Amino acid sequence: MQALSARPLEDTEVRIAVRAAGLNFPDLLMTRGGYQFRPDPPFVPGVEAAGDILEVGPGVTRFAKGDRVIAPVRMGAFAEQAVALEDALFHLPDCFSYEEGASWFVSATTAWHALNDKGQIKPGETLLVLGASGGVGMAAVQLGVHKGARVIGLASTQAKADAIRAAGAEAAFLNDQPDLIEAVKTATQGRGVDVVYDPVGGPLAMAATRMIGWNGRFLIVGFASGDIPNFPANHALIKGYSIMGLRAGEAVRRDPDLGRRTHEALSLLAQQGVMRPHISHRFSLAEANKAFEAMEKREIIGRAVILP
Ligand SMILES: NC(=O)c1ccc[n+]([C@@H]2O[C@H](COP(=O)([O-])OP(=O)(O)OC[C@H]3O[C@@H](n4cnc5c(N)ncnc54)[C@H](OP(=O)(O)O)[C@@H]3O)[C@@H](O)[C@H]2O)c1
Repeated sequence: MQALSARPLEDTEVRIAVRAAGLNFPDLLMTRGGYQFRPDPPFVPGVEAAGDILEVGPGVTRFAKGDRVIAPVRMGAFAEQAVALEDALFHLPDCFSYEEGASWFVSATTAWHALNDKGQIKPGETLLVLGASGGVGMAAVQLGVHKGARVIGLASTQAKADAIRAAGAEAAFLNDQPDLIEAVKTATQGRGVDVVYDPVGGPLAMAATRMIGWNGRFLIVGFASGDIPNFPANHALIKGYSIMGLRAGEAVRRDPDLGRRTHEALSLLAQQGVMRPHISHRFSLAEANKAFEAMEKREIIGRAVILP
């Protein structure tokens, strides 16, 4: 993906008038050179957008000028126009606004890959989501509920806990409540949770290993706390739980068949409005730096969008 420019489109590229772009934690990391993908500065950040197609390359068959689309890109979404590959695009469902469409793909893909491919969560199982009011966290809450799991979320403030319950979680607890481990165990009738979904890391992740039940699955999604936990292997052995790392984007890049199936599943979920994003903040393109500040201060619930 390239930042906006009037360069001619390649065969299967489309040019999009960006109506909204979603802010993701990796955007923040990328601006600091702290993400796996390190573009040379100066560059235009932003990995997902929604908008209207302005122009299509000669080989594009599934989209036409004027279509409303969700556009995942490698960077360059915080702009008035962006260029994306046809294969990556989704039609923006009628049930989503541009803002919602722009905040959907990264979270939905991450939650889907984690809970479907890795954790293989089943109806009736319990799911504990750390950082559950964040972008990928709230998508996991919503997908867990959609898949019939009983969902418990963790958050740093009461307002975030309320948002997690509103997203469908059966319970939401505060990270710093003194009886947190007991509260989660009580909510699972003493058994512990079946699946932990962790985009946070640090001491909270270590505490979550004490909330997991026999034969559980611990999904390592990210380290928003900046602290990478060292899990004790003996503890995983004693409780018989699996620790699984995941990279949703890399998984579909490496396995085209998985990529196809994921795209089909996500298209269906988008049409059904599953994982409808909660948007707490809106910024103009000129104020994009304030969006990054709000993310750093943990003020955002769900997603923030940037509006060109
Ligand atoms: N593995 C993958 O495929 C994949 C894909 C996308 C994203 N990720 C990763 O997932 C993580 C979350 O991404 P996101 O876009 O959902 O971010 P986000 O919307 O900012 O959510 C992160 C959540 O983490 C919690 N948190 C705890 N300590 C924090 C700290 N020191 N700074 C900021 N947040 C903190 C916050 O909730 P509280 O305030 O309630 O604690 C916040 O809501 C990132 O590490 C990202 O790189 C992984």
